[in-house]
Amino acid sequence: GTSYRIASIPGDGIGVDVTVEARKVLDGAAASHGFSLSWTEFDWSCERYTKTGSMMPEDGIERLSPFDGIFLGAVGFPGVPDHVSLWGLLIPVRRAFGQYVNLRPVRLLPGTTSALAGRGADELEMVIVRENSEGEYSEIGGRHNRGQGNEFVLQESVFTRVGVERIIRYAFELAKTRTGRVCSATKSNGLIHSMPFWDEIFAEISSEYPDVHAEQCHVDALAARMVQAPDRLDVVVASNLFGDILSDLAAAVTGGLGMAPSGNINPTGEFPSMFEAVHGSAPDIAGQGIANPVAQILAGAMLLDHLGETVAAQDVRAAVEKVLEEGIVQTPDLGGKSTTAELGSAVVAALS
Ligand code: NAD
Ligand code: IPM
Ligand code: MN
Repeated sequence: GTSYRIASIPGDGIGVDVTVEARKVLDGAAASHGFSLSWTEFDWSCERYTKTGSMMPEDGIERLSPFDGIFLGAVGFPGVPDHVSLWGLLIPVRRAFGQYVNLRPVRLLPGTTSALAGRGADELEMVIVRENSEGEYSEIGGRHNRGQGNEFVLQESVFTRVGVERIIRYAFELAKTRTGRVCSATKSNGLIHSMPFWDEIFAEISSEYPDVHAEQCHVDALAARMVQAPDRLDVVVASNLFGDILSDLAAAVTGGLGMAPSGNINPTGEFPSMFEAVHGSAPDIAGQGIANPVAQILAGAMLLDHLGETVAAQDVRAAVEKVLEEGIVQTPDLGGKSTTAELGSAVVAALS
């Protein structure tokens, strides 16, 4: 059968624990669906930075480009400043490979109840479409008058027409395949240049999609609504920073950070896409073997979908749901006492 070349970057902290388990599940699914995954592991991490002075080698991007997909754990660990570690690995990969869509589906899974909204399984399902290449995440700016009075910093945002149009169009196309609703999150009452520009483009593009219900929301009010009435939301499109914040909130509403997967998608297919959990390296529980691997496993299912192995992807999701519904093997965040490896093995055993 087909063999796909996958680059694995476990990274730091629990990124390492959860990728081991997710790879077990993906290999199991591949074996029973007639294809294989050929993994190449890269040790790019804060540990590497401490030893060598860089997160990845100079030709790191070149080395990743021939792969069919990239599977990332998490990046960042105390001892290396976050702006050094993340801008030395995660952010450059997203940008170099034109992964301008950060797709973050969240769904309240069987066996879980929303801590915040009090809804039951299958009542909540939404997807955050996060702009992943520009916006508030910019290197433009700096520190001024250092050591003098009136010290200040400037941090610029960059919103390009091409960048805003393509992410909003992606959200509308996605909505057509779902419930036909898009909510755009902005803050035009406070940020008077960037956000009105985004709103203007959102209005333009929404007129091309008369069958999609388009709504422009203030991000602050949307945050409240996501807690109190999340069932009325479906596709949420947002800038890089707002999408980042809303995706952790959406994850919390639907069962926690341990459950939320994420895909950094290059929609043209010109470069590899990268799949990871929404959560980070969780230094507070790293090395304890208790991290919930579900988010990373579901990120693996997104990778399988991306490879076109949709039946195997569905098998992985069904196995996760079966284990969660049984509620016997649960990591501490789910209220149990099981380990990361026990939950991973339970999902492998539940594959069809
Ligand atoms: P975090 O997501 O790592 O952790 C937040 C909280 O959620 C912690 O209490 C943690 O224990 C818990 N948590 C997260 N994932 C969990 C899981 N799978 N199972 C159980 N509990 C889980 O966020 P943070 O603490 O703000 O960041 C830690 C580091 O990770 C920082 O260096 C940050 O920059 C980095 N980070 C990296 C990525 C990435 O690589 N994509 C994403 C987010 C944060
Ligand atoms: C995420 C993370 C990253 C982001 C950080 C670690 C730079 O929070 O992937 O959600 O904000 O993109
Ligand atoms: Mn985040």
